[in-house]
Order: sequence, then structure tokens, then C-alpha cells
Amino acid sequence: MTSIGAHGSAPSTLLVTGGAGFIGSHTCVELLGHGYELIVVDDFSNSTPRVFTRVERLTGRRIKAVHDVDVRDRRALSAVFDRHSVDAVVHFAARKAVGESTRLPVEYYDTNVGGTTNLLRAMQQHGVHRLVFSSSCSIYGDAGRVPLDETAPARPANPYAASKWACEQILADVCRRHPEFTVLSLRYFNPVGAHPSGLLGEDPRGTPDNLMPYVAQVAIGRRERLSVFGDDYDTPDGTAIRDYLHVMDTAEAHRVALEHLADAPGMQVFNLGVGAGRSVLDVIAAFGDACGRPIPYKIVPRRPGDVTELVADATAVERAWGWRATRDLAAMCRDAWRFQQHNPHGYAAPAQQRA
Ligand code: NAD
Ligand code: WQD
Repeated sequence: MTSIGAHGSAPSTLLVTGGAGFIGSHTCVELLGHGYELIVVDDFSNSTPRVFTRVERLTGRRIKAVHDVDVRDRRALSAVFDRHSVDAVVHFAARKAVGESTRLPVEYYDTNVGGTTNLLRAMQQHGVHRLVFSSSCSIYGDAGRVPLDETAPARPANPYAASKWACEQILADVCRRHPEFTVLSLRYFNPVGAHPSGLLGEDPRGTPDNLMPYVAQVAIGRRERLSVFGDDYDTPDGTAIRDYLHVMDTAEAHRVALEHLADAPGMQVFNLGVGAGRSVLDVIAAFGDACGRPIPYKIVPRRPGDVTELVADATAVERAWGWRATRDLAAMCRDAWRFQQHNPHGYAAPAQQRA
């Protein structure tokens, strides 16, 4: 089988679902920059099409088509495949807030699992058999040991994580039954940071759930201080430990994955992480260094459902593709801060930017 890379004679055309989102938009930059033609499907439920002007500015290339389509809409999704000849799919579109998933389980399964089965059906009907899927370290749940390699048992502890695990099982079944399918499922740990230009970054709606965007909003003065969820964990400084991964490393890993998509038939699963754990206080200190002033914080009780430590064993992906993350926590904070400074209210149009 040949590689799907865009380095051959004809550039490959990729369908990117959720391409306007945080990880999707950075990956679009990486893929456009490497010659791929992109068709994006997004319903903009957690993003804005304004991001594409920036993606195109950064790369000097155009996205071939953007379709405002919900991946659950079978007919509309099929029509996208009718219109374009697609070589492979990168499937980011999903709902991703863990807390919200416990309140809205049906919506989460509907979008994340239903959206994925819909996509698989459309792919089958149109003879498209190559997929890169966004999975999550959350499927490991409270594993109780680190680092976690891909053989660690799945113990999803909330509907979001369970939906991602369900997708992986569905994808494995599809690959077993249909040998023409090749699927790479990438289990991201904690992608953070931003494009180094300051043009692209993470722009959560409402109050950020995640640590790095919250810290960035404290640094810019939109929020008074960070609440640190617990300092009584069994860790060196008492705060919980995660494996933070620069979003540009995450994006790069997708480009490399596409180059290796045809290496082996069936489904393969890889962790995407740095392989090093950093505590909440480490992140606060690193962000303080990046923005030049200390980040105010207070210690509050643990957040229900949080685990002590999640760190990837990221060696499998390096063995398979010779790729590993290269950007450190200082770069993650520096780039997140640059985006926050240049876009104090994210991608809101200038008229909507508030002090
Ligand atoms: P995001 O919310 O920024 O991006 C998701 C994109 O999908 C958004 O543009 C949203 O509008 C779109 N979308 C949502 N529902 C849709 C639907 N029904 N139809 C079409 N488009 C839809 O999230 P992200 O952080 O970029 O995450 C991308 C993927 O990576 C998700 O699948 C997420 O579960 C997974 N993931 C994220 C993280 C993380 O920490 N950010 C970690 C592990 C896995
Ligand atoms: C990181 C650390 C918090 C906010 C989530 C999802 C996971 C994956 C990645 C999608 C934790 C602490 C946070 C705050 C804090 N996403 N924290 N104050 O929980 O590791 O993982 O994103 O797949 O599935 O669960 O990321 O950024 O929310 O938290 O102290 O205001 O920061 O307790 O220890 P998490 P996070």
C-alpha cells in the first residue's frame, strides 16, 4: 500500500471534521502547510468560522471547502462526500466537556458515538477507508499507575470518556469486519498552548473548564484568580499531575499519522503525550514566568472525578513513527500567553471584544 502523504504526485484530499476547533484549527495549519487539500465539516457549536481566515493567513493557502454541517446529519454528511473526492478523514468533531457530559449524557453519546457511526457509514458508502480518530486519555480513568501505555485497561469514569471508548470499540469492530479500513486512534493527554504566531489558540465558551485557558484569563485580568482543585494529593507539591502536550506537537502528530496511515491494516491506537508529568503549581509557575507576573490562586477542595496523576508512556508512537513531542511547558505557556494577549476575548469580532 502507498502512503497517504501529500508528498507524492497528487496532493491528498482530507475531510477534517471539527476543523474549526482548538486542535482541529492548529492541525489544519499543519496539514495545509504540508500540501494537503482540506475539506472541513463543522457545525460551529464550539467554534467560529472566523478561525479559517487566520488559518489561511498563516499558511498562504486556501481551505478547499468549509461545510456548516452537523456530523449527526446523515444526509448532509453524505452530500459532502458526494461533492468531494476524499482520500482520508481526520475526525475531531465531538463534545468534550467532562462535567457537562455527566449532565447531558444523551447529547454526548449522540454527538460523539452517533456522529462517528454516521461518519463511518458515509465513508463506507463513498469508498473512503482511512481515518484518524481523536481519542482521549480520559478512557483510562483512574488507572492508579503511571506512565500509562496503550495496554492499560479502559476504565472510563464519565459519559464523555465512555463515549470515546465506545468509539474505539466500534472502530475496532469495523476494522475487524472490513479489512479495507485503516484507523489510527490517537489518545491525547492534555493538549494546551497555541500557534506561536498568536493568531490561533484555545477560545473556550463561557468559563473555562480546563487549567491552561483559565490561567491565561487570570493572567490577562479577565478573572481574579485561579482555583487550584486540591493540594492534598499524594504528589510532591500536593497538586494533581498531568501530561501537558503542546497543541502544535499534537497537530504535527496528526500529519505524521497520515503519513503512516497505510503502514498497517486495521486499527492501531497510540498515546499522544510528552511522557512527563507536571503539577498544577508547575503550570502556574511556568505561566507566571511567561507573562512576567505571578498568577494569583487559591486552594479549594478537589474537583470531583479528578485523578491524582495521568502521564503517558509515549514511546509506542516514537517506535512506530520516530516522532515525539519537542515543545516544553515554557513554550506551551509562552504561546498560550501570546494568543491571550493578542486576543483578550478570543475570536470574538472586534465589535464584540469587551474590556
Ligand atoms: P473543540 O470543541 O475546540 O473542537 C471540536 C470541534 O467540533 C468544534 O469546532 C465544534 O464546533 C465541532 N463540533 C462539535 N459537535 C459537532 C457536530 N455535531 N457536528 C460538527 N461539528 C461539531 O475541541 P478540541 O479540544 O479541539 O477537541 C478535538 C477532539 O479532540 C475532540 O474529539 C475531543 O474529544 C478530543 N480530545 C480533546 C482533548 C483536549 O484536551 N482538548 C483531549 C483529548 C481528546
Ligand atoms: C488539569 C489539572 C485539575 C482547572 C481534561 C479531560 C480529559 C482531556 C483533557 C478531553 C487537574 C486542575 C483545572 C482549574 C485546577 N480532555 N485544575 N483548576 O481534567 O486533566 O483533563 O482535559 O479528552 O478528558 O478530563 O484537564 O485542564 O481540566 O485539569 O486546579 O480551574 O488542573 O484539577 O488536576 P483534565 P484540566
